[in-house]
Amino acid sequence: MLRPTQWLVVTGGILWIATATLAVSGARQENHKKPKMIDQDPVKNATAKVERGRHTFRFDTFGDQAFWGDTLKLHQAIEGAALGGVGPGVSPRTALAVGLKVDIDALPDEIRGRLARGAISLDNPAVTLALLKLNAVLGVTGVFNSSGSLQSVGIQCALCHSTVDNSNPSLCVGAIVPNPGTGCIGHRLDAWSNRDLNVGAIVALAPDLTAFSTVLGVDQTTVRKVLQSWGPGKFDAELILDGKASNPQQVSDGVVTRTNVPGATLIPPAFGLGGVNLHTWTGWGSVPHWNAFVANLEMHGVGRFFDPRLENAAQFPIAAAHGFGDLPHIIPDDDLITSKLSDLQFYQLAIPSPQPPAGSFDQAAAMRGDELFSGKAKCNSCHVEPSWTDPGWNLHTPAEICIDAFQANRAPDLRYRTSPIGAIFTHTKGGFYHDGRFATLTAVVDHYNTCMNLNLAPGEKGDLIQYLLSLTF
Ligand code: HEC
Ligand code: HEC
Repeated sequence: MLRPTQWLVVTGGILWIATATLAVSGARQENHKKPKMIDQDPVKNATAKVERGRHTFRFDTFGDQAFWGDTLKLHQAIEGAALGGVGPGVSPRTALAVGLKVDIDALPDEIRGRLARGAISLDNPAVTLALLKLNAVLGVTGVFNSSGSLQSVGIQCALCHSTVDNSNPSLCVGAIVPNPGTGCIGHRLDAWSNRDLNVGAIVALAPDLTAFSTVLGVDQTTVRKVLQSWGPGKFDAELILDGKASNPQQVSDGVVTRTNVPGATLIPPAFGLGGVNLHTWTGWGSVPHWNAFVANLEMHGVGRFFDPRLENAAQFPIAAAHGFGDLPHIIPDDDLITSKLSDLQFYQLAIPSPQPPAGSFDQAAAMRGDELFSGKAKCNSCHVEPSWTDPGWNLHTPAEICIDAFQANRAPDLRYRTSPIGAIFTHTKGGFYHDGRFATLTAVVDHYNTCMNLNLAPGEKGDLIQYLLSLTF
């Protein structure tokens, strides 16, 4: 046993060694770099994440130019034969007519002035290339050679989930009727669904659709026909999983009944998703699930994706045959998607609700509609205020909403997701429900009236519609 004096000597020695070690390591850190102070303020962190997420949403191709450019050669169709590509090329007039949007804030003052004066030709594909060089076309990025010709082209989330405001209606050419409140050239409205965008017509321009025809097991002419059947504001995310191009079941809008309706669904907004459990029309999964799904499987970015539900060959024959449920095993440094999912999710959840323009709905009628929504019309039993979807597992069987099961059967849970209908005034174009089967809100309300035996009087239906137009999230 040590005597107290000996103990002091020993502990003193240990303390001295510890202090000396600290001093040395401190000096070592001084020599290299100052120890990094980690800022633990979650608010600052959230702001930085939202800013990075916004950049990804608007500008990140995730390396997908290897697909849209190198494989499909879409850039050659944009350029046109006169500039070294193929075909007539895509003039700004054509680009705007297929629903592409131009960001006015990316244009120098001088160009804005000339556009406003009509001093820039909208029929020349070279102008489209100039717009791409300025990074002014929403959701499309051109990759240019040093000679100035287009080498490739990539797409971003903003292509389908953005539009521009109506600040410059005079700059919208032709007989294009944009979404309510939106134009062709204006300030970005991130996450609004672009209901003017004809994705199918744009993809069908690509000179080489072998990538699709090989996967789908049909010829390129058939692929083009299917793409051209989609129409504006729609895209078919499930086509490359199950190869089902159209709905053979009966689709009724309450007046006309049709079969073989194209399988494409309306592009939904990418805002208003906070507090919402499952996403997409058929509830495929969370926001990060779907963002990874789209970035990998639809945009053809370079990343990693895992969803073993796609191995179900009976439901997803094409996905199962091509191993889409487990894509690919790459090293983290090559993965251009996964590291961005967190910020991308943050950004989408942070987007504030668009506000219905003053005078766009009748306030008194909306107040009466509010009572009906959670009362006689029973809407609030699924569209629960204020997330406007069911808190929890927000899926319903096709029978519950009295429609056919075609699209529900193309997703793992065989159900439809209760649409979060906040800010629905931003997407009244293209119809309602996943395939736009109901042209108007009147048709939607009439459908529920019959489906759920609501017995709504005409005035009550009108009030309910005014309330729907007033919703925010
Ligand atoms: C080619 C057009 C297109 C592109 C590009 C695109 N989306 Fe979508 N997005 C759609 C369509 C169509 C749906 C509906 C799919 C369905 O229900 O099957 C959808 C659904 C969504 C949803 C679900 C919304 C809801 O109401 O639950 C989110 C979130 C989303 N997309 C985010 C993104 C993000 C982030 C990107 C970029 C990584 C992206 N999308 C790229 C067309 C697109
Ligand atoms: C049983 C649950 C349920 C009830 C009750 C219900 N809805 Fe829905 N609602 C849904 C589902 C599910 C969808 C998505 C349909 C689809 O994907 O085609 C939807 C879609 C909608 C849409 C279309 C959204 C869009 O973006 O196209 C509107 C509008 C709507 N509902 C309004 C109402 C109103 C008004 C009522 C009351 C009269 C009501 N809903 C009652 C489940 C419900």
